[in-house]
Amino acid sequence: MELLAQQKVHDEARQGEAFSPHWQQQAAGKKLFYIESYGCAMNFADSEVVASILQNEGYAATTLPNDADLILINTCSIREKAEQTVRKRLTEFRSIKKSRPGLMVGVLGCMAERLKATFIEEEKLVDIVVGPDAYRSLPALIDEAEGGQKAVNVLLSREETYADISPIRLNSNGVTAFVSIMRGCNNMCSFCVVPFTRGRERSRPAASIVQECEALYNEGYREVTLLGQNVDSYHWVDESSDITVTFARLLEMVATISPLLRVRFSTSHPKDITDEVLLTMAAYENICNYIHLPVQSGSSRMLQMMNRTYSREWYIAKVNRIREIIPGCGLSTDMIAGFCTETEEDHQQSLSLMEYCQYDLAYMYFYSERPGTLAARRFADDVPLETKKRRLQEMVALYRGHSLASMQKDVGKTFKVLVEGNSKKDENELHGRTDHNKVVVFPKKHFKKGDYVMVKVNSCTAGTLLGEAI
Ligand code: SAM
Ligand code: SF4
Ligand code: F3S
Repeated sequence: MELLAQQKVHDEARQGEAFSPHWQQQAAGKKLFYIESYGCAMNFADSEVVASILQNEGYAATTLPNDADLILINTCSIREKAEQTVRKRLTEFRSIKKSRPGLMVGVLGCMAERLKATFIEEEKLVDIVVGPDAYRSLPALIDEAEGGQKAVNVLLSREETYADISPIRLNSNGVTAFVSIMRGCNNMCSFCVVPFTRGRERSRPAASIVQECEALYNEGYREVTLLGQNVDSYHWVDESSDITVTFARLLEMVATISPLLRVRFSTSHPKDITDEVLLTMAAYENICNYIHLPVQSGSSRMLQMMNRTYSREWYIAKVNRIREIIPGCGLSTDMIAGFCTETEEDHQQSLSLMEYCQYDLAYMYFYSERPGTLAARRFADDVPLETKKRRLQEMVALYRGHSLASMQKDVGKTFKVLVEGNSKKDENELHGRTDHNKVVVFPKKHFKKGDYVMVKVNSCTAGTLLGEAI
């Protein structure tokens, strides 16, 4: 089984999630849709765009697939296992469809894009297949499907950013929200299916991003996470003023909405994160000191085959620069074990890089060949599964030690915590996050969701800091 060593919910590690009941709408007389999302934060953000499009068509949401007129599943293709999970879920929907022949089932997202119309041939119960850039056509596709046709739109776009659509927040805690700032990816990492499922990179107009963040702040949200596969290559030219907005400038624009609005971002590509971004982070207290900087491997030979365009030494220099400009900055990574031709020596290099970087959080996977990618076409997937799994286990074990040490280092310190809600285990306790993205649990007293609270940490578990308000 694929091993994930993180405590916190992360993008592709997230399992299918339907939205929580609080979002359920007044449904009298309306058609009902149910949506379930898999994959990365961007897919979850897309489901909120889809919900908005459907709401404008007079649909209301339900949290119960058995009640729905339309079931949508927003899918991920990043690893084979992600696709298997979706297929299993579709089998479960089959039994609902058998008892309710009028029910429509739609597949959205990356797997829809990868498999296109063949999805309909393979999975007989699927009526609608929509790729990530075609959600505006969903109402027309539903009409087609209701007319008895199988409806497919998987056209990728060079312009679509859904900038004018106000997402409907699903499964929201009312404090933290994702905001998409760009779509697609122009990096051709050889292992990765994303450039094929999400198309070319394009940036969303800066003004619409700032507007969405302002609206969230006015609704009581206190943290936004700016999302893109490679946020540091964000680039928008304002036509009226001819001013170019870089990612650093965008960060600044969002950070100045209010000092009470925390700003996070994900994901940074090591080759693109600039000093300008780091200096902007250092200049604004409300831009969180935390960077997700996936390295993938510690071996320069592997990095070259992966087409990551940096070497081990270059990455290490970048980490040193981050720590110079933002001392104590939280750092996380993604690692792949057992990429094509990986030797024990390459693997040892990955472990020693992890040792050097001492990541606070790491998302680790064994390599899963994806059809059509550069690696699938060029290289043999020649590391035996057992070896991949063993190497992954070794990474996970090493990471666990680093992450525990990083938690223990915080005991005795005081942090500003943004409260996200009640603790899951005890409703007399609250949970929130530090600037460095660590989860903190502490007694509730008079504090509430959305408050900033100074919390002194008294102890920790592997994934949580435990403390008290001071
Ligand atoms: N854009 C980000 C980046 O450049 O790192 C994240 C891309 S992907 C959505 C998230 C992670 O999945 C990657 O960083 C990589 O570690 C992992 N991943 C992607 N393709 C994979 C594959 N074929 N097998 C195993 N892991 C993969
Ligand atoms: Fe995939 Fe690389 Fe793009 Fe990330 S930067 S989405 S790993 S191609
Ligand atoms: Fe998965 Fe697509 Fe995201 S492949 S990780 S849902 S961009």
